[in-house]
Amino acid sequence: MPDSPLLIADHDAVRLITVHRPDKLNALNAATLDALHAAFDAAAADDSVRAVVLTGTGPKAFVAGADIAEMAGLTPVQARDFSLRGQRMMRRVEKMPKPVIAMINGFALGGGLELAMCCHLRIAADSVKVGQPEINLGLIPGFGGTQRLLRLAGRAAVLELCLAGAPVDAARAQQLGIINRVVSAAELEAETMALAAQLAAAAPLALRGILDCVNVGAECSLEEALEYESAQFGLVFSTDDMREGTRAFLERRKPAFRGH
Ligand code: COA
Repeated sequence: MPDSPLLIADHDAVRLITVHRPDKLNALNAATLDALHAAFDAAAADDSVRAVVLTGTGPKAFVAGADIAEMAGLTPVQARDFSLRGQRMMRRVEKMPKPVIAMINGFALGGGLELAMCCHLRIAADSVKVGQPEINLGLIPGFGGTQRLLRLAGRAAVLELCLAGAPVDAARAQQLGIINRVVSAAELEAETMALAAQLAAAAPLALRGILDCVNVGAECSLEEALEYESAQFGLVFSTDDMREGTRAFLERRKPAFRGH
């Protein structure tokens, strides 16, 4: 699709989705939010896809935020709808039944950090800067930034990043728990794709069980979440992959997981 704001490519069972608006540092306008939502729906529905990597066309930015030019003229009602549009897409990413890794190759600011935070894992180049600079525009984060940052990094960090609006470097972001792993820019793609390939070879229904437990557990009491974990634990015993995994261990060989 010549006008698509995304590039989509499959590397075996790993789908690579790239936000591609390099002249706007991959800023998220409404069309890009919708394209991402559709791309994640498609990745969820496609059984040949077992893991997803999300990035932006480099080298400067992962995603430099929501599209400020598009936002500048919105009415309050349109702004609420734009926020909801982004939030729905990001919730769709967060609730994906297969793992999603954000490969952060440059600025992840505002909506860019929000997009990275709804992914399940984040790997960043050591040169990147991440932050919630909306305050500098007289705005607040609107794609879940105040809430996901609170849950990922805690109250002190979310208040520091959102109130001061200053981006932090990759090392500090890792220290705050926002980024899982920091590597050199030269190693970023290979490291990320290797992790994605490892996840793509894992038992898909067990991966899904873990993702469901974390998503559901984040919303309810420990008692309810532990109940839910036990139910999911029982459910994986219905899979061929669980038999294969345990048998392969006992036979001292590598398991071959098939997704059923
Ligand atoms: N929305 C819309 N356009 C954006 C954008 C955004 N969030 N971020 C960058 N762009 C555009 C710029 O307007 C510029 O377009 P132009 O060439 O048509 O003028 C282009 O991308 C390149 O950006 P530029 O600012 O010239 O690059 P830089 O290297 O000088 O600065 C940043 C890079 C990331 C520091 C700077 O672009 C920036 O601060 N962006 C906004 C970050 C932000 O506030 N995000 C939260 C939004 S709610």
